[in-house]
Amino acid sequence: MNREDFLMCKDALIYLDNGATTFKPKQVINKVVDYYTKYTANCHRGDYDISQKVDFEYESTREVVRKFINADSREEIIFTSGTTESLNMIIFSFMRHYLKKGDEVLITKAEHASNVLPWFELEKEMGIVVKFIPLTRDYKVTLDNVKAVTTNKTKVISLAYITNVIGDVRPIKEISEFAHQNNILLCVDGAQSVPHMKTDVLRDDIDFLAFSAHKMLGPTGVGILYAKKKFLEVMPPFKYGGGMNIKFESTKELEYKEVPLRFEAGTQNIAGVLGLKAAIEYIESIGIEKIREHEIKLREYLIKRLKEVSNVTVYNEASESGIVIFNLDKIFAEDTANYLNHYHICVRAGNHCTKMIKDDLGVKNTCRISLYLYNTFEEIDKLIDVLKNSKNIYDIIL
Ligand code: ALA
Repeated sequence: MNREDFLMCKDALIYLDNGATTFKPKQVINKVVDYYTKYTANCHRGDYDISQKVDFEYESTREVVRKFINADSREEIIFTSGTTESLNMIIFSFMRHYLKKGDEVLITKAEHASNVLPWFELEKEMGIVVKFIPLTRDYKVTLDNVKAVTTNKTKVISLAYITNVIGDVRPIKEISEFAHQNNILLCVDGAQSVPHMKTDVLRDDIDFLAFSAHKMLGPTGVGILYAKKKFLEVMPPFKYGGGMNIKFESTKELEYKEVPLRFEAGTQNIAGVLGLKAAIEYIESIGIEKIREHEIKLREYLIKRLKEVSNVTVYNEASESGIVIFNLDKIFAEDTANYLNHYHICVRAGNHCTKMIKDDLGVKNTCRISLYLYNTFEEIDKLIDVLKNSKNIYDIIL
């Protein structure tokens, strides 16, 4: 699918680590280069043409993001440095003020560190209680499992839409309906879902959503925090400084800007934000549904072909995304990744920043294949050939 747009798509390289980051099409790279070569200026601070061009490009990106996730208003889109910062803002700015000692927050052991560690810190700091929703035998979340651990103290459910190791798609709409009937807020980590399937925050009635540009063909260092405006209006700023205030006096009198600029102190990653606009336009020119269809076909083919390799165990066959985790029998995941690297095949090995899922999975480290729009059936064939010949793995990597 449009491989010629990606300079990194070379025949000799098989990149199957899109959950970590994705390649960037030339449209995104050109947008960033144009900013640096044709209209470099700061944003929201200049009264000259090129700075106004930057203001226009930056603010129109907000509108492009709004439409992409179907948010109500562009004020609900905050630019951050990535999913991690977005989640930290939600948890340490909003939740720190919203929650009280003894309130319960539901997560799972399949969450990424960014949706676990801020909660653990808040638990230590203010005595909230972080509880785990039990997973099914296929490591999935069901509404029944959510209900089983919900009490009248449950105030927040915080889940990835698609997890970065298991790759399961959570029933977010159902969970959202249940949560809101019970006065519970829903926070969604969209890092692995927004790039791969249609996201609609209104349809799913999501209260908070975090995601990153670099996992969806955009530049690194840019993230998005979506939150319903009523929550942003009462959320204290996470960072203080230039660009977010209206006035401050020696009397200590001060006033901050309205949402969203109140949350964007300091010079932002302007080039990155502009690149994100090009990335979303690129995705839309293909169609997110078409991308998802392609990934699902690749996934089905990959699973079918992996079954031909006698010494492979796949751990997440029941999942519904382009993420497939596996191990070769009696081989460390890192060794398998090194072996594949010898053939210029890139996969991620380890615990993938999701260190608690081992309790359910029964294995600490896995190899992860994560697919995207430019991956091909031929690449999967090459991967399978290499895996089938893995008997001599230690001759190759030692
Ligand atoms: N969170 C990214 C991953 O899953 C880095 O690989």
